[in-house]
Amino acid sequence: MKLVGLVGWRGMVGSVLMQRMQEEGDFAHIEPVFFSTSNAGGKAPAMAKNETTLKDANNIDELKKCDIILTCQGGDYTTEIFPQLRAAGWNGYWIDAASTLRMKDDAIIVLDPVNLDVIKDALSRGVKNYIGGNCTVSCMLMGLGGLFQKDLVEWMTSMTYQAASGGGAQHMRELLTQFGSINAEVKALLDDPASAILEIDRKVLAKQHSMSAEETRQFGVPLGGNLIPWIDKDLGNGVSREEWKAGAETNKILGRGEAFGAAAKSAVPVDGLCVRIGAMRCHSQALTIKLRKDVPLDELEGIIAETNQWAKVVPNTREASMKDLTPAAVTGSLTIPVGRLRKMQMGGEYLSAFTVGDQLLWGAAEPLRRMLRIVLD
Ligand code: HSE
Repeated sequence: MKLVGLVGWRGMVGSVLMQRMQEEGDFAHIEPVFFSTSNAGGKAPAMAKNETTLKDANNIDELKKCDIILTCQGGDYTTEIFPQLRAAGWNGYWIDAASTLRMKDDAIIVLDPVNLDVIKDALSRGVKNYIGGNCTVSCMLMGLGGLFQKDLVEWMTSMTYQAASGGGAQHMRELLTQFGSINAEVKALLDDPASAILEIDRKVLAKQHSMSAEETRQFGVPLGGNLIPWIDKDLGNGVSREEWKAGAETNKILGRGEAFGAAAKSAVPVDGLCVRIGAMRCHSQALTIKLRKDVPLDELEGIIAETNQWAKVVPNTREASMKDLTPAAVTGSLTIPVGRLRKMQMGGEYLSAFTVGDQLLWGAAEPLRRMLRIVLD
């Protein structure tokens, strides 16, 4: 059995990954070795088989013994450890969720329900680095991938509504703490049906404006009762790094663009604004899709529904949208609902869509565990 080193398995994404691996029986196919950056020598979790103590995640010699390393430890770890491992002659498979290696020529962004052909081709060429994509990109392609596969998309805008979890576990805690302190500020007034709503609103705003650096440590400004129209670094050209990823990663996943050679289809422009909102762990996106031709709506719905077993068309009605097309409806599920599908006023080639995905499942853990299984097969 292949020796699989697991790093960062205790964090938020890592915990979701461990849960999914247990649900899918993945541990029956591997000999796991659990690594830790802080507790080497400690006891490995119950899924361990022969190796029941935690190994040091910074020990290159220990890591080198693994056939496959699957890490959710984050970008800093990948940046520090990965080059050392390769320099030490390690030729195993590296599977991770960080953006560090994603755009490198010798790395594939993995989302096998969408790009199994790209993955298989890379495996046959001896590529050893397989990296999970940006969460919004992965969730979008899980829902809309069929339209790209049929080469129907001329360009697309993606306006996102991204959950706190995209920042990390501490960001989710901060959001809830802010909601709590805002509520506490106006609780007495809320309990009094005769109180004036504008007085409540004034106090909420005053609370938001007076939040301490401690209360906004993760997001920098209040997110509770607010939104933040910028995610990740400022690239200096008016574009955020999160927005840049939409186009760059979508095309890399699909194997489109100049980087894939003269025979590859040209890149599809994908651009939009990325916005942080006060949801917990589901990223939502409003899409405007310019089709290459005026395809009837029912045909488009059919293509989306057949994209993969997880994409689900939600009827474009008020009731269905409210029930099935929200972060609260999707959290904890692998289903990727796609709704609000309609032709826009601009013409029959303009399609609107709205999609929601659990950022910790298809956006992070699931493509990694599936890639592990592909390597093992
Ligand atoms: N960059 C994403 C976010 C996280 O901040 O929501 C996962 O790719």
